[in-house]
Amino acid sequence: MDVPFARPRFYGGEAEALAAVIESGWVSQGPRVQEFERAFAARVGAEHAIATTNCTTALHLALYVAGVGPGDEVIVPSLSFIATANAAWYCGATPVFADIDPHTYNLDPRAARQAITPRTKAIMPVHQIGLPADMDAFLALGREHGVAIVEDAACAIGAEYKGRPIGSLGSLACFSLHPRKVITTGEGGMITTNDGELADRLRKLRQHAMDLSDLARHSATDVVFEAYPERGWNCRMTDLQAALGLCQLAALDEILAERRRQAERYTDALADVPGLDVPFEPDYATRTWQSYAVRVRAGAPLGRTELMRRLLRDGIATRRGVMAIHHERAYEGEDVLLPHTEAAAREALMLPLFPGLGDAAQDRVIDRLTAHLMREAA
Ligand SMILES: Cc1ncc(COP(=O)(O)O)c(C=O)c1O
Repeated sequence: MDVPFARPRFYGGEAEALAAVIESGWVSQGPRVQEFERAFAARVGAEHAIATTNCTTALHLALYVAGVGPGDEVIVPSLSFIATANAAWYCGATPVFADIDPHTYNLDPRAARQAITPRTKAIMPVHQIGLPADMDAFLALGREHGVAIVEDAACAIGAEYKGRPIGSLGSLACFSLHPRKVITTGEGGMITTNDGELADRLRKLRQHAMDLSDLARHSATDVVFEAYPERGWNCRMTDLQAALGLCQLAALDEILAERRRQAERYTDALADVPGLDVPFEPDYATRTWQSYAVRVRAGAPLGRTELMRRLLRDGIATRRGVMAIHHERAYEGEDVLLPHTEAAAREALMLPLFPGLGDAAQDRVIDRLTAHLMREAA
């Protein structure tokens, strides 16, 4: 493969940081996780950050503390990674799919409003591929109907909504640290909140609801026994992951700037190519460009999948846009009419974009993509 689709980038110092953790003898959740949580919270303007094993477990815990349980409904976009719906299922709740805004690909607050029933316990807007959803509308909807808003911010560290960082808006926000995301710890997740009591409960729930952390036990000056006031899960991040996360966080501004630069290069080069729509940029948001998705319009000279095939033959890896969860067998039978989701799932195409891609490789993507569409249009 000449041009891969994505690859994480490390900026130096990671090997030393990991060696220091190994040297310390404390490799499970401990002081580095605490340091990473503090740095993460400071970066996104939240009062508290709680590290987890991944974003899916973060979403599960966030929905759980929001009171979601068996028999409840959680409104989610179908146009999202399947983890969004699975997190509701983890709670024994039913994910209810609502349509997206066709310009932003994010859950449409009007569609979410129409999907509210007496069983709705939470709404989960997803900041899809790092573009913030219309949070003022969702927060107002949550207040009006007494339902929780939990943000799926898997791709959104560093994104801003009306000048405020995602993670600082007051609702529980859940981030992913998977290598396909903006920064990575290999696997990992983070929940942010401004509510100290919720943060405290989440910290316990992620380690079987034990009321004493390992860190507290190790620094105790007397014999202490832990208690388990409720049931929980094991969603602990390791200090090895946190050490990597601290290095990645230090590089976040550089990563975001490079992602933006590449996105602007794509948009400049592709804006006038027949049959393509470049991403819509709402003026309320600063996005992370976790992915760059063009739309191959219905009347384009080549269909999206055929275009992907031809690019693959050129040695260029692409991906379909975000999946539609209700198309999958795992959620089949859901009786929903989601025309904007259907169209986006059919027509969106993601192009390689990652720090380290290089201008020559990006130019090759632009050149081949343009050539295939122009040739067919001629
Ligand atoms: C929108 C969205 N939500 C949740 C997840 C799950 O993240 P993780 O792999 O960290 O569990 C992903 C990951 O792809 C995602 O894109």
